[in-house]
Amino acid sequence: MQKIPDFQAWKARAQRISMLTCYDFSTARLLARTSVDALLVGDSCAMVVHGHPDTLHATVDMMALHTAAVRRGAPDKLVIADLPFLSYRAGIDRAVDAVDALMKSGANAVKLEGADGNTELVAHLVASGVPVMGHLGLTPQSVQVLGGYRTQARDATRAARLVADARALEAAGCFAVVLECVPAEVAERVTGALSVPTIGIGCGPEVSGQVLVINDLLTMDPDFRPRFVRAYAGLGPLLVDAAQRYCEDVVAGRFPAIGEFVSEPALAEAGTGP
Ligand code: KIV
Repeated sequence: MQKIPDFQAWKARAQRISMLTCYDFSTARLLARTSVDALLVGDSCAMVVHGHPDTLHATVDMMALHTAAVRRGAPDKLVIADLPFLSYRAGIDRAVDAVDALMKSGANAVKLEGADGNTELVAHLVASGVPVMGHLGLTPQSVQVLGGYRTQARDATRAARLVADARALEAAGCFAVVLECVPAEVAERVTGALSVPTIGIGCGPEVSGQVLVINDLLTMDPDFRPRFVRAYAGLGPLLVDAAQRYCEDVVAGRFPAIGEFVSEPALAEAGTGP
């Protein structure tokens, strides 16, 4: 299994890091066969698995359930779980309870969004034995404040602020920082300012690693095609096609066919009564 200290070593030797989101047992079992460095049980599961319009609907119970499923499917992978909206903003005690639930569900580390008001908690968690990954740039839990899902840090002041926030998270003890949807030049600047790795999504190539939402990489939703996603497979359309052909076969009596059920001809004589 990859270990948290590996992140520092990967950054030191400029070895690119791969991370994918994962929310369920069967996907985790398949991803366990790949060389992916870490699985992120992202709070995006509130959207892509549960159909909510944003990540604000994720709860600690939801995240714990998905984290446990991913851990069962990928016992040897490094699993990072998202702390959901507000679960780490109502005091250290409540945050620690949320972290405890995720770690006991099988997470090796947790991720939280933003630096402002979080550095004390990060330091406390790290001192308590909990590895913490930061998340800056487009922080979806703040979608209402940000006014939508749009590229962040597009001017010099905001770019400088992002660098300062990233440094603050590193100083507090974060082992890595996710950067979401910031201009490639800004992501490169942040990456150069840190000794811990940056994991980018929608941030270009000059970061220490990349993360994608697995549903996007597989095109589970053909209507959602942001520029920064590469569709490695077209599973959504394949699934629709397979399910449609199944329905047609059932209606036409083509499924099940010989060989797809158990047949005991002698039982035809046995009658149906007691
Ligand atoms: O929840 C999530 O999927 C994430 C990634 C976009 C980094 O935080």
